[in-house]
Amino acid sequence: MTTDKQNYNEFLLRRLHSLTGVLPLTVFIFFHFFANSYSRQGDAAFNRVVDSLRGLPYLPFISWGLLLTPFLFHIVLGLWIVFTGKSNALRQPHPRNFAFFLQRVTAIIVMVFVIYHVVSMKYVHLPENGINYYAKLSEKFANPYVYWWYVIGVAATAFHLANGICTFCMTWGITVGRTSQRFMALAMTGAGIIVFLIGISALNGFVRAPKGDAARPPVVSAVR
Ligand code: HEM
Repeated sequence: MTTDKQNYNEFLLRRLHSLTGVLPLTVFIFFHFFANSYSRQGDAAFNRVVDSLRGLPYLPFISWGLLLTPFLFHIVLGLWIVFTGKSNALRQPHPRNFAFFLQRVTAIIVMVFVIYHVVSMKYVHLPENGINYYAKLSEKFANPYVYWWYVIGVAATAFHLANGICTFCMTWGITVGRTSQRFMALAMTGAGIIVFLIGISALNGFVRAPKGDAARPPVVSAVR
């Protein structure tokens, strides 16, 4: 039997889970895809951006306090929600039930993808500062398996985030009626497609030689 206190604690945890999905995660994804789009302008522009991000003041606080801790919380509670919740998506094939089911499937894909992405970037491809990050990543994405794995990861992230904003608006009472929920679903379909296209465009910046940059020698940054 569950008590009022247990119900209240679960309510609070779920609200915090919902909030961390938007702040900081969704905001961070917009920023991250946008910053990576400098790949479209070639090695000099991209390397400058990475150097300046790696040189930010309070970086350990930003990465651990503002990003990793809320993300770990969202993952742990998210796994609990995925594995304890019941889905009737396949028995009652309504679009919202299907979106509910896909929200859980993409959660698992995003989790595996983000762990792979962070570990491979931090420890394999870009462990040191001041290297030619752009050249290293061009090498990485030249592998078609890696390239398509990123396409899947970006697509899963865009869906999870866009559908997540729709459910967030319902959870917090922002969209209450059918019309506002339909409007939000439409707006977020557009937003999800835009996020996906920005992510893929950033990825493609590494596999196509950017105009005018192909003949340049690799950039070695002065920042150490
Ligand atoms: C790029 C990273 C991620 C972003 C931007 C993100 C964003 C969001 C957003 C905005 C929501 C909606 C919250 C709500 O319904 O009120 C959500 C829900 C959810 N997220 Fe994430 N999330 C991310 C990664 C993950 C991961 C890695 C997992 C777990 C493995 C996860 C599990 C879930 C689950 C299960 C829900 C549905 C909660 C429910 O229906 O009550 N998410 N996410």
